[in-house]
Amino acid sequence: MYRIAPSILSANFAKLGEEITNVLDSGADIIHFDVMDNHYVPNLTIGPLVCEAIRPLTKAIIDVHLMVEPVDRIIPDFAKAGANIISFHPEASRHIDRTIGLIKEQGCKAGLVFNPATPLSYLDHVLDKLDLVLIMSVNPGFGGQAFIPEALNKLQAVRKRIDASGKDIWLEIDGGVKVDNIAEIARAGADTFVAGSAIYGAGKDSDPHRYDTIVSAMRAELVKV
Ligand code: DX5
Ligand code: ZN
Repeated sequence: MYRIAPSILSANFAKLGEEITNVLDSGADIIHFDVMDNHYVPNLTIGPLVCEAIRPLTKAIIDVHLMVEPVDRIIPDFAKAGANIISFHPEASRHIDRTIGLIKEQGCKAGLVFNPATPLSYLDHVLDKLDLVLIMSVNPGFGGQAFIPEALNKLQAVRKRIDASGKDIWLEIDGGVKVDNIAEIARAGADTFVAGSAIYGAGKDSDPHRYDTIVSAMRAELVKV
């Protein structure tokens, strides 16, 4: 019931396909795909063409995290490119309920993302329509930042709301997740764990699929929860 979602932001882009198949063969569950636009966040990454290019490599879920503004125009492109989940930041949409509807009309699951200072009140009227809530434990824009502990309180609060809703809504954490804090994060209520630098920075030539050791270490921590 715990899902490990490597962020390909920290992968070697010169061999992205191999990096994706390796991390999945190492036991990761889903691919976290960070889209940044040098506008909503101060960085620029990858778009629908890259999503389309990696789609044939795997049946695993592609979890697209949109850090772009505006969001609506690009959603159908990601749906066509094979995204399974599309998440967006409420500050980046003029009409949050409409954006959620658009994602679902396109046949994808919808997620809402909360920056460290974004209040959970954005969930008040839309929680039932969401498939995923993503709590940012860093300010979005870059991999390799330190986990902000306040995210644990936020996770606990969202976990209560999800449980009260009775719906199967995933609770994902993104930013600064490592072997030494993943269990504590799970105890706070997360079930889906994005990890970029912690996984892609720990590849071993001696591992059969390069990331076996690090993914197993995270899994072993989760077993203790
Ligand atoms: C940050 C991205 C994250 C990032 C996480 O804006 O949304 O997905 O890749 O990287 P780490 O795990 O290195 O903090
Ligand atoms: Zn992300």
